[in-house]
Amino acid sequence: MDSEGKKVTFPLMLAVGVAVIGSLQFGYNTGVINAPQDIIEAFYNETWSERYNEPISEASLTTLWSLSVSIFSIGGIFGSFSVGLFVNRFGRKYSMLMANILAFIGAAFMGFSKLAASWEMLIIGRFVIGLYSGLSTGFVPMYVGEISPTALRGALGTLHQLGIVVGILLAQVFGMESIMGSASLWPLLLGFTFIPAMVQCALLPFCPESPRFLLIIRNQESKAKSVLKKLRRMTDVSADMQEMKEESRQMMREKKVTIFELFRSPLYRQPIIIAIMLQLSQQLSGINAVFYYSTSIFKEAGVAQPVYATIGAGVVNTAFTVVSLFVVERVGRRSLHLIGLLGMAGSAVIMTIALALLDQLKWMSYVCIVGIFSFVAFFEIGPGPIPWFIVAELFSQGPRPSAFAVAGFFNWTANFIVGMCFQYVAKICGAYVFIIFIVLLLCFFIFTFFKVPETKGRTFDEISAGFRRSAAAGVEKHSPEELSSLGADSQL
Ligand code: GLC
Repeated sequence: MDSEGKKVTFPLMLAVGVAVIGSLQFGYNTGVINAPQDIIEAFYNETWSERYNEPISEASLTTLWSLSVSIFSIGGIFGSFSVGLFVNRFGRKYSMLMANILAFIGAAFMGFSKLAASWEMLIIGRFVIGLYSGLSTGFVPMYVGEISPTALRGALGTLHQLGIVVGILLAQVFGMESIMGSASLWPLLLGFTFIPAMVQCALLPFCPESPRFLLIIRNQESKAKSVLKKLRRMTDVSADMQEMKEESRQMMREKKVTIFELFRSPLYRQPIIIAIMLQLSQQLSGINAVFYYSTSIFKEAGVAQPVYATIGAGVVNTAFTVVSLFVVERVGRRSLHLIGLLGMAGSAVIMTIALALLDQLKWMSYVCIVGIFSFVAFFEIGPGPIPWFIVAELFSQGPRPSAFAVAGFFNWTANFIVGMCFQYVAKICGAYVFIIFIVLLLCFFIFTFFKVPETKGRTFDEISAGFRRSAAAGVEKHSPEELSSLGADSQL
């Protein structure tokens, strides 16, 4: 790849930077509900007492709180599954712009819930901001993947994850009692999500539409060309145009690909299974057991200042996402994912040993911190960023929106399951709870080793041609009709 293909231009960075505000919102709302738990629970209790003239029971409070936390992922499941309804109809850019209506509504519901003495409003607000976040986990990686030059697609794709982790860190810091995590300021902490939404609305109009969308879906060749020239700061964009046209030609043959067809057609079965498994490897690695419950894990481990240890995990999380950003185009997706999964399994072993020996050896609490920090670091090397952006790489234009919907659905559902079940399972398994994740991590390692191809440096079209070839080899034995439906002729 020549240096031209790696040029980081201002319009490209502006577009990516503005898009990943959506990722920041997702991260912020993932992390924001942790620190102020006690304070918001006190508000629930007070409101309940005023309404019913009796204090809230422990069981009702736990239920209300779990609902407030996890309804965010339910919103995420619905949002991510709806991505396909928007992106081709309104375009990538206007889909992102429109989604901000949800961010404003969510912020208003959460921000005014205290004033209205209504926990219902807080819960509705969490659901609505979950919808927005679910949509963002489709819109952002799709848009970034489509506007990036091939040689930078991984690095820029990692910026989605960087947005998420910065969002989590911001929420952890803002959530400290001395900043906004106090009895009087928590509505501001939750309503803060309004501000990034405003910034994104103000700047999106200055960003270009995805040239792939313009050319392939809207058939606006000259517009696509002029957007590309701006993004690449080059007058000759014929190579990019050529590649997009090839993708477009392929799409004519594919027609519209529904979610059902993704699973039925032998052409897509392999990439969709890979996409789903990578999403599951991200969530079932146990990462959100740490991000939702690290404060209580650290407390159990006898750490003196658990809140600071949690913020420490946020800092390590951010730092290693930056490391991944710089190495992903050199080392490749597959290798980084493998290293990340194995490293996480090793770190979880250290954590388990430390937790098991804690009663005999007090200094094991430090070993536990090291274990958790390295668990998070290895996560961000591969399993954090890669599953998000690899979906755009595994599918061509036709099936891409459906593939994002399916991938997002699996990611958010697994996120919900871990968030809901971890505390219960941890109660049963005690110090050995992470053994479940160790086993899962090793299974995902084996799957990645045998099934996931390297996508670094290959164009979208080359990647899908690779799948076409192996699908054709698979169905050759079956029927000539199936083979021709793959459009596998000239590619073989
Ligand atoms: C990934 C996950 C998200 C998690 C975050 C942690 O983006 O999708 O659920 O909270 O990483 O950094």
